[in-house]
Amino acid sequence: MSRIKITDTSLRDAHQSLWATRMTTDDMLPVLDRLDEVGYYSLEVWGGATFDVCIRYLNEDPWERLHIIREHIKNTRLQMLVRGQSLVGYNHYPDDIVQKFIVKAAENGIDIFRVFDALNDIRNLETCLKTIQETGKHAQACVVYTISPVHTMQHFVDTALRLRDLGADSICIKDMAGLLSPYASYELVKSLKANLDVPIQLHTHYIGGLAIASIIKAVEAGVDIVDTASVPMAFGLSQPPVETIVRALQDTEWDTGMELHLLFEIATHFEQLRKHKGFERGVTRITDMKVFEHQVPGGMFSNLQSQLEQQKASHRMEEVLAEIPKVRADLGYPPLVTPTSQIIGIQAVVNVLMGERYKLCSGEVKDYVRGYYGKPAVPIQEEIRHKIIGDEPVIEVRPADLLEPGWEKAKQEAARFSDKEEDILTYALFPQVALKFFEYRADISDEDIPQISPGHEVKEEIQTEEERKMVKPAPRGLSILRYIEEMMK
Ligand code: CO
Repeated sequence: MSRIKITDTSLRDAHQSLWATRMTTDDMLPVLDRLDEVGYYSLEVWGGATFDVCIRYLNEDPWERLHIIREHIKNTRLQMLVRGQSLVGYNHYPDDIVQKFIVKAAENGIDIFRVFDALNDIRNLETCLKTIQETGKHAQACVVYTISPVHTMQHFVDTALRLRDLGADSICIKDMAGLLSPYASYELVKSLKANLDVPIQLHTHYIGGLAIASIIKAVEAGVDIVDTASVPMAFGLSQPPVETIVRALQDTEWDTGMELHLLFEIATHFEQLRKHKGFERGVTRITDMKVFEHQVPGGMFSNLQSQLEQQKASHRMEEVLAEIPKVRADLGYPPLVTPTSQIIGIQAVVNVLMGERYKLCSGEVKDYVRGYYGKPAVPIQEEIRHKIIGDEPVIEVRPADLLEPGWEKAKQEAARFSDKEEDILTYALFPQVALKFFEYRADISDEDIPQISPGHEVKEEIQTEEERKMVKPAPRGLSILRYIEEMMK
């Protein structure tokens, strides 16, 4: 038997993809014991956007969430997503912050760190991978999947080999846009298995509906682990449903050994939660499926849509979608994933609205061309570079080599709120948002001290619930409006 192992993404990627990351720790609590019992290889519960959203919109301490989850999940590995040197943020952090963050995440319960770099620039994963090894935890490195003239099978295999040489314990194929077709999936997994002796995991998104077939072909090619979500949190922009994969592999040599009736119990919890909170189901709209044409991931598409609406330029969406692949080609074919998706998206909008390409450029696109995010798969052409940054130099070193250490500074600045290392990290990653959160937390605990009556607690609960309902998911990523306004000045 070569059982396929399954990672559940319901508590991280699935609600990040479908519910703007708005699942709270309380929403998760009732189902944690069940998730622990059912036989998942790992549960992805932390990282990605969850950290930021916890402090920014949910007034929750992400470290506290991890701690609580770890208390309930006693038998199953806990997994998180790390954006390489950007950790759970949007820009690169100094090495000392990266090291401290990994160590603290490991201490608080993470077993598997899944790390990726948007440009597949392995230099941006060096500090993460080295630190994870030092903690003794599992380091999984991603090959970010995309389609372009330079992203050949050989490119992916070479990237994977270099990641293994850096000490990756396993390799994940990260198909964030759901572009991996079943036959490409088969070929890619076969090539990776033929060249590497570490486990291979497949992470894909449902979006245009290829995911189930791609997983099955990956299984046939020898993949070890695949990612799925509970059915109420599957489909659409999320992962494919676990129940379908479990059923598809039943009574084959790849049987997962998981029991459907237990999975349905878990699904019932998430379905009740979905209805109670008014969250949407995962569906595929035409615009979502057009990812096959333009590679624009769904989250990025809705962001572009709302930004264009603000500019009263919704009718120019088609032009923007046509412009995105051109900007992407100009910039060396970066995969469209945070933060490159935002960088490319904004520049495409600006190019269309200005009626002239690169007449105005955002600070981010300039930094990208300066090399501050790393090296794209192919160098940017001289002419394009000149249009964007003129004669400014391009850095050759690893971007984080240019950053001053940040720990001592963060420690001093956060001192008036906390000397807990977790809090100092929260501050180091998101200084302004962290301060607001710390103030909120201090207010709450001040109120709690004299008021111990249960009545008070109930009232508080109701208020939070109402407040939560009022929180509308904000557009993700950078504000195009802000850029255009600043640049028009
Ligand atoms: Co994903």
